[in-house]
Amino acid sequence: MTELDFIFNRRSIRKFTEQPITDETVELLLKAAMAAPSAINSKPWSFVVVRDPVKLQAIRAELLFGKMNAPCAIAVCGDLRGLKTQVIERFWQQDCSAATENLLLAATALGLGSVWCGVYPSQTLVKRIQAGLGLPEKVLPLNIVYVGYPGEQKDPRTQYNPQRVFRESFGQPWLGEKP
Ligand SMILES: Cc1cc2nc3c(=O)[nH]c(=O)nc-3n(C[C@H](O)[C@H](O)[C@H](O)COP(=O)(O)O)c2cc1C
Repeated sequence: MTELDFIFNRRSIRKFTEQPITDETVELLLKAAMAAPSAINSKPWSFVVVRDPVKLQAIRAELLFGKMNAPCAIAVCGDLRGLKTQVIERFWQQDCSAATENLLLAATALGLGSVWCGVYPSQTLVKRIQAGLGLPEKVLPLNIVYVGYPGEQKDPRTQYNPQRVFRESFGQPWLGEKP
């Protein structure tokens, strides 16, 4: 048990029970998402929470690799409407990715399962999800995060690989004699 267990326990969960997710829980997840860092603190995000079974089925139909039976799907979107500079616009994917990771970690900490299903930059998927959720043209879905109570268990893990770590300059192994 360490303080970082909620990070190592986060795994992509693709099977869910039928237990619904309350508004309160959704709001807690989104508070975590919106606590993320963003370039110039621009917070260029909008979230669409979907729990209507008919709409969930429509999302599943659009995503070849996103057909999970979760009771809740959250579309994490880059909301480029009204952004003041192109600089801010250029960072929306990083900002929304940070928000997504916060959401996934918060779900894990609350005993929920979740999985990130990629949408952007596939223009086909972006257009399908925009149409399905009624998103304006300048609101771009980065992903669909399915959330629910887990119907499968996965082992916690780190994928730490010291060969990907260099000491002081690239090519100098992290392992081995320290200077
Ligand atoms: C940008 C991105 C897109 C992903 N898209 C999908 C997806 O469409 N369907 C899916 O089942 N998992 C998707 N995943 C989840 C990855 O497959 C998963 O994170 C990876 O296999 C590692 O497993 P873990 O999440 O359990 O650590 C995506 C993850 C990221 C970061």
